Amino acid sequence: MKRFDFLVLGSGIAGLSFALKAAKRGRVAIVTKKNRAESNTNYAQGGIAAVTSKEDSFELHVKDTLTAGAGLCREDVVRVIVEEGPARIAELIELGMKFSQRDAPNEDGGRELDLGKEGGHSKRRILHAKDVTGREIERALLNAVAVQPNITIFENHLTIDLITSQKMGYVGENRCLGAYVFDKANRVVETFVAPATLLATGGCGKVYLYTTNPDIATGDGVAMAYRAGASVANMEFVQFHPTCLYHPKAKSFLVSEAVRGEGGVLMSLDGQEFMDNYHPMKSLAPRDIVARAIDSEMKKSGADHVLLDITHKSARFVIERFPNIYKTCLSFGIDITKEPIPVVPAAHYQCGGVVTTVDGETEIAGLFAVGEVACTGLHGANRLASNSLLEALVCADRADRRMTEQDLPASELKIPDWQAGQANNPDEMVVVAHNWDEIRRCMWDYVSIVRTNKRLQRAQSRLANLQQEIHEYYWNFTVTADLLELRNIATVAELIVRCALLRSESRGLHYNLDFPDANLDWAQRDSVVRKAG
Ligand code: SIN
Repeated sequence: MKRFDFLVLGSGIAGLSFALKAAKRGRVAIVTKKNRAESNTNYAQGGIAAVTSKEDSFELHVKDTLTAGAGLCREDVVRVIVEEGPARIAELIELGMKFSQRDAPNEDGGRELDLGKEGGHSKRRILHAKDVTGREIERALLNAVAVQPNITIFENHLTIDLITSQKMGYVGENRCLGAYVFDKANRVVETFVAPATLLATGGCGKVYLYTTNPDIATGDGVAMAYRAGASVANMEFVQFHPTCLYHPKAKSFLVSEAVRGEGGVLMSLDGQEFMDNYHPMKSLAPRDIVARAIDSEMKKSGADHVLLDITHKSARFVIERFPNIYKTCLSFGIDITKEPIPVVPAAHYQCGGVVTTVDGETEIAGLFAVGEVACTGLHGANRLASNSLLEALVCADRADRRMTEQDLPASELKIPDWQAGQANNPDEMVVVAHNWDEIRRCMWDYVSIVRTNKRLQRAQSRLANLQQEIHEYYWNFTVTADLLELRNIATVAELIVRCALLRSESRGLHYNLDFPDANLDWAQRDSVVRKAG
C-alpha cells in the first residue's frame, strides 16, 4: 500500500501546477498513464486566454466567455477565473514559462508579450509560445517538479477506480480514500491511499472516431467519478474543433485557431469563402458555429473536407508564427505558405464533466477535480478558445487553498487490496479492439455535430449492448490497459448520449434537428446524471 498526503491523477497543467503547490504541505504522488509529458496540455497549440493588455478588460473577457457559453455559464465562476488569471500567469512565468514576446520594444524599451487572437474573443488576449504553448508549459512545470523532493511521479500507471468509503460498504458520508492503480510495466494493481485525491485526467476525445486529442484522452476521470457516485453534468457539450488537418496519414493533427486569428480564411474546395453566410465574425466566429458551418458546407457539396487559406500572409510571418504547423504540414507534402490546408472538424474538448465548485470540490469528500475533467460552469454550452488552460491554473490554485482550509485527516478505515478474483488472462483481445472501434464509430455517426433523437436513441441501445459485453469481460479476465480504457470510453459515451437526450433544445455545441431552437426552460439548467442507487 502506498500512502501519500495528496494523490494526483494526471500530469497535465492542472495536475502539475496543483502538485507544485501541495508539495509545500506534504508528500504528493502523481499517477500518469504514459510518460509524464504525455497529456492533453502537451498538445495545446493556441495558448492561455488572460487579460494582460491595457486595451483589454476583465469585463470584456467575461462578456466574450458568456457569449460563447450560450447562456449556460455560471457568471460568478467566470468572473473568478478571469480575474484571478493574471496572477496565476505571473506565477507560471516565475516558474520559467517562456511566452512569445513582441518583436518591437515598448516605450520603456521592454518587450511585451505577444497576444494572439482566437474565435469569439473581442480582443487580442491569447498568451502563447509560438504554436507549441502546451509543450512549453509542460517543460516549465516538469522542470519545477523535478527539483521538488516531495513529489513522486508514477509513470505508466493507469488508475482503475477510486476507492470510496461507500463502495467498501461503510455508512455515512461518502469519502474518497485513494485509488487502485494498474502498474502497466509490472502488470500488478497497487493501492494508493491519501486523504485528498485530485482528478486531473483531462478529457475524452477518443470517444469519437476523429479527434484532435492524443490517445490518452479516454475520459478516465469522468468514468471513475461517475462509478464512485459523483454527479456528472453537461456531457452533451462536446466541442468539435473546426480545423483538424485532413490527410490520410495525419493522425489527430490540430491546425490552431490562431491561424484564423492571424487572417486565415475558410473556403470551399472551389475557393469560395463561406463563413460570411453564417456569422458576422466570419472565420473567427465561436467554434460551435464554425464547426456546424463546415459540416453543413461538406454535406451540401459532398466534399470530405474544406480549406483553410493563409497564403496571403508572408511566408516569413507564417513560418515564424506557426513553426510546428508549417513543419508538420510540410511533412505531409503541404506547404501552407503556398497552398491552402485541407481541414475537417474533429472532437476536441469536453465542456461538461464531474460537477465541481470553482475550488475543484466534488460531491465526494476528499475528491477534487480540476481541468477538462471538471464541470465548474466556466464553459457553459461552448468553451471560449484558450479558456481551458486558464481554468486549470486558477482552479488548481483554489483547490490547493481549499484543501489547506479543510485540513483533511488520514482515514482510519481499513482498505482491502485489489482482488483479482478468478480472472484468467485475456484470450480475446479482438473483442476489446472491436468494441473500441464500434463505440468510436457509433459516436461519430450518431452523436457528433448535428444530432437527432432517433440517432441518439440508436446510439443508446447499441452502447447498452456493448457495455453489457464489456462488463462481463471486465469481471472475467485480468485487467489490461486497453480493457480499462475501453470500459471508460463506453461509460463516457453513455453519459454523453444520456445528457444529450435530456436536453430537449439546441444550445451551443448541442444541436438537435428535432429541437432546432433554444428553449427558455433549459436556460441556466445543466443536464445532470448520476449513477443509479
Ligand atoms: C487551438 O489552438 O485552436 C486550440 C486552442 C483551444 O482549444 O483552446
